[in-house]
Formats: sequence, C-alpha cells, structure tokens
Amino acid sequence: MSETQDFEALTRYAKAFTGLTPEREACLLEVSEQLQPLLATVTDKFYEQLGHIPETAPFLEGRVDTLKKSHLAWIQSLFTGPFDISCTELMYKVGDIHVKVHLPVEFMAGAMSMINNELILLVIEQFADDQEKMALVLTSINSITSFSLFVMQQSYQESTVAEELDKFLRISGMSRVLFTNLANAYSD
Ligand code: HEM
Repeated sequence: MSETQDFEALTRYAKAFTGLTPEREACLLEVSEQLQPLLATVTDKFYEQLGHIPETAPFLEGRVDTLKKSHLAWIQSLFTGPFDISCTELMYKVGDIHVKVHLPVEFMAGAMSMINNELILLVIEQFADDQEKMALVLTSINSITSFSLFVMQQSYQESTVAEELDKFLRISGMSRVLFTNLANAYSD
C-alpha cells in the first residue's frame, strides 16, 4: 500500500471524472439483489475471453480458479459498496498486485472493456421493459467500473515509477538518501 497517496483526494478525483454520484451509488445498491445471481457468468465469460488472447493467456496458467474467486468477489462488491475511501484503497492495492505480477498496463483498460460489454448485455436483458431505469443502471455501472479502472491506473503509475527507481538505485549503487538530496537540489 502506498504511503504517499492521499486516498481521500484520489476518491474525490476519481468520482469527479467517472460521474460516480450518490444517485448512481444508490442505483447500484438498489439493483444488487437482482443482478448478484447473474454475475458469476460475467466472470466466467471474462476468463474464457482472456484465455483466447495470446498476450493474456500465459498469466492465467494454473490459477484460473483462484483468479475467478477474486474477480467474482470484486464484481459483486461493485453492487454492495461501500463507495468510499476503503473502495479506493482496495482498488489501488489490486492495481499494485497487477504491477507486481508484471501485467502490462493496457490489460486493465482492455479487461474493463470486456467486463463492461458483458454487463451491458446483462442489464439490457434484465431491464428491457423500463428504458429510464435501464439508462440509469447502465450509467451507474459505467461509473463504478471506470472508477475502479481510474484508481488501478493511478496505482500502476506510482508503482511502476517506484519499481524503476528501486532498480536504478540497485544498478547504480546510489543510496536513497543521496538520490533524494540530488533530486531536491536539481531544478531545470
Ligand atoms: C478489470 C480488470 C481486472 C480486475 C478488476 C482484476 C481483479 C483482481 C483482483 C481483485 C485480484 C486479487 C487481488 C488480491 O489478492 O487482493 C487480482 C489478482 C490478479 N489478477 Fe486481476 N483483475 C483484472 C484484470 C486482470 C487481467 C487482464 C489479468 C491477466 C490476464 C489478471 C491477472 C491477475 C493475476 C495474475 C493476479 C494475481 C494473483 C496472485 O496473487 O498471484 N487480472 N485481480
């Protein structure tokens, strides 16, 4: 977990960008009961599709069952909340774990697009007779999945820079204190 990240500020920032408003949060909670039993199929389809992409398949070998469990718990949480700083901290940690297993950053946006595609179809099927409700559910889901993506990508940025700095210090033999002093003294 990052010690430098201001999670309250990041929560506000991510909500502003993704339109995760109190009305949409309430909508996610409201449709939870109806959608929960259908979410395992979204997870199953997600891993089936990832298995067909040559770049993603190697990361799944021997761990699909475990990954499906983590993924299903995450997708269920999109409809149960809480949509607060704890959610931001969790998604930041998930992003960090992906950096540690060396997943390319584009996997995050690509994967979220697959998940959204499946959720859109599911919502259309469930709320076909109420267009106004369907629109609210779709925008609410788009907001919460985009929120998750936004936070994971912030985490990628920070974790990648931290890993590269660690590597540089190991290769160069420079101490962290010396690096910090040099960085503080440097100005363009
Ligand atoms: C929307 C995108 C994704 C979400 C929301 C997501 C969610 C998660 C969650 C919740 C965990 C568990 C973190 C923990 O242990 O606390 C995890 C771990 C992991 N995910 Fe993802 N994931 C996504 C995309 C992907 C993709 C595209 C791949 C690979 C193709 C992948 C591979 C992994 C791996 C290898 C781990 C670590 C397992 C371990 O602990 O060794 N994830 N992911």
